[in-house]
Amino acid sequence: MPLIIVSFSGMAQSKRISPNLFGIFFEDLSYAADGGLYAELVQNGSFEYLPTDHAGWNSFTSWDFITQQFYGYGELNVETGKPLNANNPHYLTLKIEDAGQQGVGIANSGFDGIAIDSGKEYKFSVWLRTSSDQPVSFKVFLEDWKQQMIGESSVICNSTKWQRYETEITAQKTYDSARLFLLAQDTGTVNIDMVSLFPEETFKNRPNGMKKDLAETIAALHPKFMRFPGGCLTHGDGINNIYYWKNTIGPLEQRKQQKNIWHYHQSVGLGYFEYFQFCEDIGAKPLPVLAAGVSCQNSGATRGKGQKPIPMDQMQQYIQDVLDLIEYANGDVSTEWGAKRAAAGHPAPFHLQYIGIGNEDKQTDNFRERFKMIYNAVKAKHPEITVIGTVGPNYYGEDYDLGWKFADTIGVPMVDEHYYEKPEWFISNQHRYDKYDRSRSKVYVGEYASHGNTLWNALSEAAYMTSLERNGDVVAMASYAPLLANSKHISWNPDMIYFDNRKVLKTVNYYAQQLFCNNAGTIYYPDVVKSTSGGNLRDSIVAASAVEDSATGNLIVKMVNLNSAPQNVRISLPGKFKHYRITAKTILSGNRDDKNTFEHPDVVVPHTDKSVIKQSDLITLLPYSLNVIRMEK
Ligand code: AHR
Repeated sequence: MPLIIVSFSGMAQSKRISPNLFGIFFEDLSYAADGGLYAELVQNGSFEYLPTDHAGWNSFTSWDFITQQFYGYGELNVETGKPLNANNPHYLTLKIEDAGQQGVGIANSGFDGIAIDSGKEYKFSVWLRTSSDQPVSFKVFLEDWKQQMIGESSVICNSTKWQRYETEITAQKTYDSARLFLLAQDTGTVNIDMVSLFPEETFKNRPNGMKKDLAETIAALHPKFMRFPGGCLTHGDGINNIYYWKNTIGPLEQRKQQKNIWHYHQSVGLGYFEYFQFCEDIGAKPLPVLAAGVSCQNSGATRGKGQKPIPMDQMQQYIQDVLDLIEYANGDVSTEWGAKRAAAGHPAPFHLQYIGIGNEDKQTDNFRERFKMIYNAVKAKHPEITVIGTVGPNYYGEDYDLGWKFADTIGVPMVDEHYYEKPEWFISNQHRYDKYDRSRSKVYVGEYASHGNTLWNALSEAAYMTSLERNGDVVAMASYAPLLANSKHISWNPDMIYFDNRKVLKTVNYYAQQLFCNNAGTIYYPDVVKSTSGGNLRDSIVAASAVEDSATGNLIVKMVNLNSAPQNVRISLPGKFKHYRITAKTILSGNRDDKNTFEHPDVVVPHTDKSVIKQSDLITLLPYSLNVIRMEK
């Protein structure tokens, strides 16, 4: 068995690397937000679904008209005449001619059913308005498909003006696919909007918050930053579909919903405030990405020909919106937008440091002109903010070349590179950044993933990540993509975390990412792992990196054995590390093609051995393994 010696060729060659190297990329793709991380359980609760969101969808999608036995009858219409808010135009008008014995109304089936847990509380709310002074009472309840009651409550509508009513339902049983009913018990005419059901328990118990299980899974990655809300979603399907952040803040009933570029709908209940709050809650620096004044070049399924520019006479307003976002995140409560943040419940700033402008945009004159206008305005007003530009959807090609040239010309501090490739590409491209010119823009690898979720995929990514650490002086940030996918609505494969209404599946890729995030460092030591023959190790067999975490003084060595044979390692460190002992060794290993599934979620999971090992002890790297070795004084 070959022996690999872990030793330093020279401590003088150590270098500082980015303290923010590994983060996450959240895009509302594959139902990542509505029906995913966002804890709202009612689908289309505001009746804003449209056929333009998805073929066949309309205001009544995921709803049923209910005339519960016996003899209740009435009428139901979708109207737009006198809405709660112009941004939220559709609502229902329910006319109850005879409420019968059980009532007349509506039922919602949630996102593939509503998962309910016995003993838990659920917060129900709705906006109602009657047409007369006669109050109309409603039964609110959760039911299974055999019409068995799961929990119930009631509200009484007693106002001819729009008013929000709320109540709580305690679940009496656990059920995977309940429906929520809202049945009027009196005759009358009532307008209905913004029907909502939230688990009382959300991540960190935030109101309008995130699903606990998914949010905890993300938080356990300990990402250094979070990019949001996309991806292609940010620059949208045409300029009217650009993700305009101002439409997504403030009271929910006043937010402007729109179609999702991934062929569904964005309720924007998870909007900019919630994104910032979530970043803070998981200890990640926020990295919002805004359109560069142009829409996605694939708008209208045009395969690269559909980029549309915001008209020049609207660009000043658009630029102002970008500046306002910075004020919303960081401004004092005495500023216009800082005050809005405070009104939402967060007077303290969100400490925004980075802002992405553009996503994989086609490098056209329209793009360049608008990017430059936005960039110059941000630089002038907020020199403290690092703007991240874009260099196309690939690691090569026209947009990549022109993107870099443009970044050089105007001096963009950082650019966003994307690539989705085979595992072998990641293994054979580990020297990509070794040759990057350090005097040019820094790199954010904003989207990358190998094609799959096997251990081999995760190891190829891990090997590549050791090279990102080695180049952590030029690669400032990196995020695997995409993060989340609802297993019933997958628009993009592979993803890091899959989920349904009950379960969360951590892929092997997730564990590799977690090991890097949780074992990050700020100083890189080169040539730590050497082969016994003295030369540099072939990184197609073992890829390795060593970083020091200056906060703890720990030295962390990562070694990825890409080989089917085990490799023996002996550690021998000079200088200040001479007396360091190995205090934890975490291994992710298995068969090359192993993957975690909902049925078998723990096929490949990390194992930590905390027995203290001396430097002189022999360490065996298992075949196909990621090994993270922590060393302390
Ligand atoms: O991550 C999925 C998509 O891939 C992103 O929306 C886009 O930026 C990229 O093409």
